[in-house]
Amino acid sequence: MIEKLKLISEGKAKSLYETSNSSELLMVYRDDTSAFDGKKKEALKGKGIINNKFNAFIMEHLSKNNVETHFIKLIEDNESLVRRLDMLPVECVVRNIATGSLCRRLGVEEGIKFKEPLFEFFLKDDDLGDPLINDNHITAFGWGTEEEIEKMKEITFRINDLLCKLFEEVGLILVDYKVEYGRSSGSLLLGDEFTPDGCRIWDVETGESLDKDRFRKDLGDVVESYQIVAHKLGITL
Ligand code: C5P
Repeated sequence: MIEKLKLISEGKAKSLYETSNSSELLMVYRDDTSAFDGKKKEALKGKGIINNKFNAFIMEHLSKNNVETHFIKLIEDNESLVRRLDMLPVECVVRNIATGSLCRRLGVEEGIKFKEPLFEFFLKDDDLGDPLINDNHITAFGWGTEEEIEKMKEITFRINDLLCKLFEEVGLILVDYKVEYGRSSGSLLLGDEFTPDGCRIWDVETGESLDKDRFRKDLGDVVESYQIVAHKLGITL
């Protein structure tokens, strides 16, 4: 067991604590689930444990494939040890199929499959509804350097290649996802989480959503759907 010292941030689904090692943090996955910039909230029993183990599996897979991440190890069912990062205030989204905010924003048809994955930056700001931004906003406001922008794109596309393949092998489609990065000793590392809370996963046979859209759209069986995905990927819960 690693002692939780000061609570340094309480996000919508995770809490971060300092540990006795100043360069390592404890990430606690809660059952809390939120959507629409925190306007819809509910605690879904068992989700914290699934997401913690799901994230560990994905982070380890990425790490094995030379993507540097903040993940160190699983500590408890709902706790992981991670490297402390200085997070960039941006979200990186990659889309393989058009859905969600993209369709609302551009009035485009749902389900268009892109020839090349589409990359978007969003500013992390709930009060502003996480607006879409471009590379120039990032450099103009000093949220990141040109080099960091290129690195975020390169790593996020690499993650897409690796994870599309991983999901495809078990009959799942990775539709889109969001990742975040942070700085640690001069390098940029993948931070935050990769779980069904932050991506869209469809069953290749039925087209059924097996991710947080089940919560957003009141489809029910949210945790059960995350469990199905975890089971298909061979994650031990
Ligand atoms: O809502 P939107 O279509 O832009 O979401 C794209 C992808 O990014 C989805 O997989 C969604 O779950 C994820 N996302 C997220 N956190 C946000 C915004 C989007 O995890 N704040």
